[in-house]
Amino acid sequence: MPSAQSETVAIAEAYYDSSEADEFYKNFWGGEDIHIGLYETPDEGIAAASHRTVVTMAKAIGELGVESKVLDLGSGYGGSARYLAREFGCRVDCLNLSQTQNRLNSDKNRSARLDELINVIHGSFEDIPAEGPAYDIVWSQDAFLHSGDRAKVLDEIDRVCHPGGQLIFTDPMQSDDCPEGVLQPILDRINLETMGSFAFYQRELEVRGFEKVSVRPMLSQLKTHYSRIGEEVQNRYDVAVSLSGKEYVDNMLRGLGHWVNGADEHYLAWGIMHFRKMT
Ligand SMILES: C[S@@+](CC[C@H](N)C(=O)[O-])C[C@H]1O[C@@H](n2cnc3c(N)ncnc32)[C@H](O)[C@@H]1O
Repeated sequence: MPSAQSETVAIAEAYYDSSEADEFYKNFWGGEDIHIGLYETPDEGIAAASHRTVVTMAKAIGELGVESKVLDLGSGYGGSARYLAREFGCRVDCLNLSQTQNRLNSDKNRSARLDELINVIHGSFEDIPAEGPAYDIVWSQDAFLHSGDRAKVLDEIDRVCHPGGQLIFTDPMQSDDCPEGVLQPILDRINLETMGSFAFYQRELEVRGFEKVSVRPMLSQLKTHYSRIGEEVQNRYDVAVSLSGKEYVDNMLRGLGHWVNGADEHYLAWGIMHFRKMT
């Protein structure tokens, strides 16, 4: 991993590498997946809903097979990569900042006998370690919010995606018409200056020669997901505190509350964005 990483990237790395965060995400966020789920009912299990997001994104791509080379940016514990490799036989490179998560990802891939298909790489999506166009599909779930320079991330995706290749991703964002300043509590908690938006991604991807396949706003899923995580933490508060410490858990609960309020006010946005790089 190159040494000249931005402060934002360094903060995200330290956060996801910490044992407090690792224990929390392993035990309260569904285990395999650390992203917003697609809930059929508001009280559905977090793991099942989280898995549905992966299945829905894979269906949208439609062209996955043994010849496909996928890049998962900010791949967490690798649940999506294992699904893609197992279901479609495709090869997946998991690029992720956290070595704590990467170790568990690699262990799980070995246990599932998928390590021949999945390559776990330590690095940042602001500086993707690939020489040039190497991927048919660039995939990412709820990771770009941690970037201090999303335009650079999109430049990197443009550089490594084959012409005709697909980009599919989700990201917790601000709404296109979000008033200035109202999201400060969320930004402060995750140490960011800005968030992406549907308008930002669509504009910036179009400039780089990507055409929109579909953009599906689903803010209610963000609200349901953060509410469900909050309920789980409240229900098993003592367990959460024993794993991650009271300060971490109380901050997490406050943070989840900010996300739910932001969704109620329609200051936030979330959804599945799907683009194709024009040839
Ligand atoms: C909310 S988690 C999502 C994990 C995974 N995509 C999933 O859906 O389970 C955000 C992930 O982004 C990763 N991340 C944050 N900043 C990154 C960066 N600059 N480069 C690569 N990964 C990054 C973190 O390590 C973490 O795994």
